[in-house]
Amino acid sequence: MKRKDKTERNFLLYSLTILGVYLGLLSTNIHYFKVHQLRLVFIFFLTNLFFDSVNIKTLEFTKGKVETSAVFIVNIFAAVLLNPFEASLVAATSGIFLKLIKVFLGEKYPISRYIFNFSQLAITTYITSLLFHGLSGQSSLQNTFAVLLSTFVYFFINNVFVFLAVYILSRDDIRETAFKVLSGPVTSMALMIPVIAVIYILYQYIGFIAIPVSLAAVLSIQIGNYYRYRYYEAKLEHLKLLAKSLEEKDEYTRGHSERVAELAKKMARKLGFSPKKVDRIYNAAFLHDIGKIGIPDHILKKPTILSKEEMSIVKNHPVMGEDILREVDIFNNRESKWVRHHHERWDGTGYPDGLKGREIPLPSRIIAVADVYEALTSDRPYRKALTEEQAREIMIKQMSGTVLDPDLVKLLFEILDEEEKGEEKKDDD
Ligand SMILES: [Fe+2]
Repeated sequence: MKRKDKTERNFLLYSLTILGVYLGLLSTNIHYFKVHQLRLVFIFFLTNLFFDSVNIKTLEFTKGKVETSAVFIVNIFAAVLLNPFEASLVAATSGIFLKLIKVFLGEKYPISRYIFNFSQLAITTYITSLLFHGLSGQSSLQNTFAVLLSTFVYFFINNVFVFLAVYILSRDDIRETAFKVLSGPVTSMALMIPVIAVIYILYQYIGFIAIPVSLAAVLSIQIGNYYRYRYYEAKLEHLKLLAKSLEEKDEYTRGHSERVAELAKKMARKLGFSPKKVDRIYNAAFLHDIGKIGIPDHILKKPTILSKEEMSIVKNHPVMGEDILREVDIFNNRESKWVRHHHERWDGTGYPDGLKGREIPLPSRIIAVADVYEALTSDRPYRKALTEEQAREIMIKQMSGTVLDPDLVKLLFEILDEEEKGEEKKDDD
């Protein structure tokens, strides 16, 4: 509890510092401290608010990797077209406006978060605007260059502030946090800079109208993506249902997929993957055995040893799973590949492709470890469930480095140990 208080105090201090720097910057450029273009300020404010409230934040391009918000485009153009004070006011107030409404409606939100959101948006936009007005000149080439550099600076300052905030609040390893917070924005930036350039060039040719037109285009991409995503989710839910009903036929496997998925998720998180990738790994793990739907019941449930032919049918399930999953892989066929390789072995003697070591996709190796652990610690027709200790012994002594990725086996037991410690601590309290 005390630790949490300290973290909160540090965060508040951090937020107040940013606010202080912003106010300091304002006071050194007092001539900006005026609203000249009230109408434009208002238009930007409303546009920003609109994009914030539609809440279709993901602007996904082909790889499904890039996430950004149209609010960003609005803030950049506010920085370009308004003076630094006006622009920072637009960005900062619209950034916290919706949250304020929610608080009036009874939601709880710590004051430090407001100060942080307000100040970091204000200062980022302020500096961006200051920079643009300092760099821009007569030629349109020079101005385009100024916009690009300002966009880069906006990205940079904004992400540094967010990174420090996450670091202060989570107190994770600094490198881990940097990777988590910054890996997304770096790819977004690579994509957003040309988008901003195109909009700005358009603006130079056709004037202010270029901005609403471009924003409308962005909005339509967002709406398209939103529905694409909904469609994808619906299909995914269908498949999960199918996987569950497949398991329901057999009391020994009931709940297996879900438990494997939970374990895989924990491992993926621990490896520092982005929330989105963690989700994808969770889904792939949930559906890893979906290909078993093509195996006849008499083979699937056969208590005695399978014939060679029957075995080859069983061994086909990862490939069948891949085929089924390709249906929902609207982005880039990644999950289906992961499912295809969940029975590869670290030493290269697995199936279907006999991949070896790191040739096997990391998510497939994660699923394999989770799958084995879950199978060992559940009842089977031919044996009782093993204890965690027994499973650990078998996995470390007999499977690590042959069947399974040794690092991931270690990782799994680290996670389980940590969880156990956490439980003990709870009991002590
Ligand atoms: Fe399997």
